[in-house]
Formats: sequence, structure tokens, C-alpha cells
Amino acid sequence: MRRKIVAGNWKMNGSKDLSEKLVGSIRFEAESLDNGVEIVIIPPAIYIGDVLKQAQGALSVGVQNVGQWQSGAYTGEISSDMAKDAGCRYVLVGHSERRQLFGETDELVAAKVSSVLFSGLVVIVCVGETLEERESGQAESAVSSQVRTGLSLVAQGEWQNVVVAYEPVWAIGTGKTATSDDAQTMHAAIRSVLKDMGAPADEISLLYGGSVKADNAAALFAEPDIDGGLIGGASLVAKDFVSICRYFPAGT
Ligand code: PGA
Repeated sequence: MRRKIVAGNWKMNGSKDLSEKLVGSIRFEAESLDNGVEIVIIPPAIYIGDVLKQAQGALSVGVQNVGQWQSGAYTGEISSDMAKDAGCRYVLVGHSERRQLFGETDELVAAKVSSVLFSGLVVIVCVGETLEERESGQAESAVSSQVRTGLSLVAQGEWQNVVVAYEPVWAIGTGKTATSDDAQTMHAAIRSVLKDMGAPADEISLLYGGSVKADNAAALFAEPDIDGGLIGGASLVAKDFVSICRYFPAGT
């Protein structure tokens, strides 16, 4: 059985007050969910403690990025060991904003993935093509190469802690979503790349991200290779985020 996950990536948004109110209401609403979905809150690292306090063990918590080292003279960085120590279960790696604004390469993504797995946490590795790549018919090859390099250092026994999030760059924060057919096609392609790499591909959860909202989540989550969502904007509004979680079909 693959884990079903809906993760909220707050990006550089939020406050102490929002962490308390938003997470409190999500936890309250989530109590009535019975579709087996795991809800993950990924706030700015400085609010992890506040979010954990409100999550009360009912929601999982993650960080948006880590350095590739475990400790040392790296001013401004945090490590996956620290994320674990603080109570996180998940780490996001290789989000397209990290790749585009901070120059993260597939090789750096691979080093960070390795470090997260070494700490025993679950890594959510983000991949996705740009608009130019999609328009020139290169979407699948771009994503496939991000998967192959980004996950090249994963050892055989570590795959159970790997989740892949497919987020087309042109769909992030734009209000444009991939159609559920296009998303399914890419998810199936990612699964076949994973198989080809010798990973237990049928057990690896693949999330879709990019303008997922309450009105398009149901169609996306109904696809056989879409095991959940990575949600940006809509994760900052309790009602919207919880509606997305509710669209997960029960018993899948
Ligand atoms: P969005 O962001 O839902 O606001 O498009 C998704 C993401 O960047 O993970």
C-alpha cells in the first residue's frame, strides 16, 4: 500500500499567530477524516515548534529545505539531523523555487536527499518541467533526468523513505493546473523510471503539485498513479486545505 499524503508547503509565509490558528483548525477538521490520508504541514523552519505544538501528533510536520551537511560552519543553514531532533518527519528537497532562485542543481538535490535519508526522515523530492520544456516536447525527458540524478544516491533499503512530487513549474502559483490526464501520464512515466532504476516503484508515493485547489483536487486524486498532493497557496487557508484532504477517495 502506498502512503496517501496531502502536504501543505507554506513557503515564506506565516507567523506565530497563523501557525497556532491555522494548524489548530486543520487538526480539528482532520479529526473527522476517515480516508487514511496523512496530512503534512511544512512551515518556515522557525515555526516548527509552534506547529508541532498545535499538531499534537495528529498531523505530520516537515521542513522546506536543509543543507547537505549534518553540522558545522555553514551560517544560516539547518540540517536534516536538526529537523529530526526538532520533531519533523518530512523534508522537502529540490522545490523549483530552490532550483530557480537559489541555483540548486540535480547533483545538490542528490546530496541533500542522501543526507535526509541518512537522518532517517522521509524526503519529498520535487521535480517538474518548465513551460519551454513542455512546449518543445521535452517535458518527460526533463523530469526523467531530474528523477535519475536527484535519486541517484538512494541505497536499496532507503526507498521506503522516498516520496516524489511532480510539480510542473508553469503550474506553481499560477492558477494553471496540469489536466488530470497529463498529470497521470507524467506520474506513470516517473514510476517507470523508478522501476528502471531498480526501486520498488509500486510502493513509492507520487504527489502532484501546482495550483491544486478544492475544485480540481478530486479529479487529480482519482488518477491511479497520483497518491496525493503538494499544496502551496491553498494550504494557508484551513477550509481550502481540509477540503482538498477530503477529496481523497476513501479506501484507495
Ligand atoms: P501552489 O504551490 O499550490 O501555490 O501552486 C505548490 C508548490 O509550490 O508546492
